[in-house]
Amino acid sequence: MKPIVRDWEEVVEEGKARIIIPKRSLYVREDLVYEPAWSPVFYNPVMRVSRDLTVLVARSVYGSSSYFFIDALGGTGVRGIRLALETQGYGIVNDVDPIAYYYISRNIEYNRVENRVKPLMCEANVLLNNYTFSGIPVDYIDIDPYGSPIPFIDSAVKPLAKQALLGVTATDTAPLVCSHARKTLRRYNVNCAKVDFEKELGIRNLIFNLVFRGAAQDRALKPILSYSHRHYFRVFFRTERSGSKSYELMERCRGYIWFCPSTLERGYLKNPADRVECSKPEEPLILGPTWICRLGDPEFAKQVLALAKKEADALVSRETVKILEILVDEYRIVSPYVRYDKLFGVLKKNMPPIREFIKYLREHGFEAYRTHFDQRGIKTSASLAELYEILGRDEYD
Ligand SMILES: C[S@@+](CC[C@H](N)C(=O)[O-])C[C@H]1O[C@@H](n2cnc3c(N)ncnc32)[C@H](O)[C@@H]1O
Repeated sequence: MKPIVRDWEEVVEEGKARIIIPKRSLYVREDLVYEPAWSPVFYNPVMRVSRDLTVLVARSVYGSSSYFFIDALGGTGVRGIRLALETQGYGIVNDVDPIAYYYISRNIEYNRVENRVKPLMCEANVLLNNYTFSGIPVDYIDIDPYGSPIPFIDSAVKPLAKQALLGVTATDTAPLVCSHARKTLRRYNVNCAKVDFEKELGIRNLIFNLVFRGAAQDRALKPILSYSHRHYFRVFFRTERSGSKSYELMERCRGYIWFCPSTLERGYLKNPADRVECSKPEEPLILGPTWICRLGDPEFAKQVLALAKKEADALVSRETVKILEILVDEYRIVSPYVRYDKLFGVLKKNMPPIREFIKYLREHGFEAYRTHFDQRGIKTSASLAELYEILGRDEYD
């Protein structure tokens, strides 16, 4: 028998799931926008992209094989229930909050996945540590907290199977993008400054810190898909229990970014003491330690995009497909995006439409793409010196 939906509740549809939540109209701000944090249980429709991608990544990795997941911070249960309905996953949806646990339980019943998903009401670290000691390996762990994922990461990497998947959200974007430099140092151990590619810096800081925490416990965390959307960052890692592989990742991908504020020149360094010079008389800023490798695997992103296109509209939102289309290209460029408006601002020149400039770069042998991070950004293989040389040509007078 289906649970009763009460008159202060409503049912939202997402993917194959139908989720009972308290009526959103009861929790609106003065401007009539729904405020998920005011609802007794957290459901944010904006985060659908994050859940679509969770399903797509799990399907791309596990295909038709069954796998065991823990959705450690479950809210209404929507993510775990979608994993059960749209992939071959089975597992646990957990939340420490009794009201969330109540909705998770009802939604499991409502979607008839009782045989695939068990609700739990437990502190997430306690649950994950208990799993570590149970010896039962977990194939996918999802960490989707309010704010920073840092309080959960040390526990989340431990119960992962020899080869597994980890999905992590961070909504503490302010310290990650260096709006609070002291907090960035405290929480993420990164020396930072304001740069034109702040969102990319933020996700690099997040990835580095998670990889480092994994490596400390001999877990190699390789980012296969990462992105920024609205108020949050999200990273999916393929993980492996291996001291040598985690060392290799740290050795290759831990580094620093040098940046010249007045010219926007930038580059990566392995060692912060390495000598670099700005073309104008100023000292480069040295940011890091941070992640200096790719933000995702372009081939994997292509596979996820193909799957998303197959499902477009039916199970996956258009917005998810749009983000993936950009990611597939931009992952090819490791260098941080350049803010197009700032680049032209430095030379006080008029900007042609960004599309035309990207075309011009490609015609002249460079790789160049839009970035999902910022409408005003370009990802290109051209260095800043090359960009200035191009902008000095007659075409740009
Ligand atoms: C952002 S919401 C999760 C949203 C959900 N994953 C989704 O996709 O809709 C975070 C949830 O974590 C729960 N939570 C916070 N701290 C927790 C902890 N230490 N252990 C378990 N759950 C916790 C909160 O009650 C809240 O429901």
